[in-house]
Amino acid sequence: MKIAVCGKGGSGKSTIVTLLASEARARGYQVLVVDSDESNSGLFRMLGFDQPPIPLMELVGGKKSLKQKMSQPNVLTEAAIPIEHIPPPHLLRRDGLMLVSIGKILQSLEGCACPMGVLSREFLKKLALKADELAIVDMEAGVEHFGRGVETSIDSVLIVVEPPFESLEVAERIHSLASGIGIENVWAVINKVPSEEIARKLEDELKKQGTDVVGCVHLDPEVFKSSVEGGVLSKGRAAEEIKDVLDSMLSRASR
Ligand SMILES: Nc1ncnc2c1ncn2[C@@H]1O[C@H](COP(=O)(O)OP(=O)(O)OP(=O)(O)O)[C@@H](O)[C@H]1O
Ligand SMILES: [Mg+2]
Repeated sequence: MKIAVCGKGGSGKSTIVTLLASEARARGYQVLVVDSDESNSGLFRMLGFDQPPIPLMELVGGKKSLKQKMSQPNVLTEAAIPIEHIPPPHLLRRDGLMLVSIGKILQSLEGCACPMGVLSREFLKKLALKADELAIVDMEAGVEHFGRGVETSIDSVLIVVEPPFESLEVAERIHSLASGIGIENVWAVINKVPSEEIARKLEDELKKQGTDVVGCVHLDPEVFKSSVEGGVLSKGRAAEEIKDVLDSMLSRASR
């Protein structure tokens, strides 16, 4: 299964990716986290790595020469890419948890991220997973990536929704774009829930939009603490609640 985690900026996409990856790993899945967010760079720390992987973009010589280099042989030009074909500096491994990164915009003059969108799309399309392998993609905030077709080979989209209502508008757009390109499973998880009342309100709104809610994750001081202190989040309410979220996703996906 290839799951894209989408949503408004700051809604908790990377947090949810991290929690889902640890939980899926604990259940015996081999989990490949794909960092497809061109702007933020902290995901490797949240997953317990002390450095980021070398971006796949470097395999093709960086953004400038992407077009020319995509035609020269490397793992990205293979028709199908099993995880074990990704060369080590580009694929970090720790206890069955793996991380690859598409690329980061490091300089303001690098301009638009479109070539990375192309690389994300091609990589995700060719990525060949075995039954016990799960890919969880940390997407860039917002909906621009849908315009680049990054999700065309994704089977499930998980939208992270947080209390401000703006987040619902983004969720609605993501839902309609994802359904529009034929993605079967479009789910929402409500994150940073401060009270049951607010959770219920958001759930009602999402249901009105026709988005299936797979669970809620409360505002958890442990999440914030680990984001400040660094290190892997393994305890606390959010780490408990993600278990139900993963259960719901896996049972819906197997229907
Ligand atoms: N359930 C939660 N409880 C408490 N804090 C949370 C929770 N989820 C996320 N946060 C905090 O919210 C902030 C944003 O989270 P995160 O970086 O995961 O969001 P994001 O959607 O990936 O952001 P970006 O769009 O910048 O990539 C972080 O400080 C994180 O610790
Ligand atoms: Mg993020």
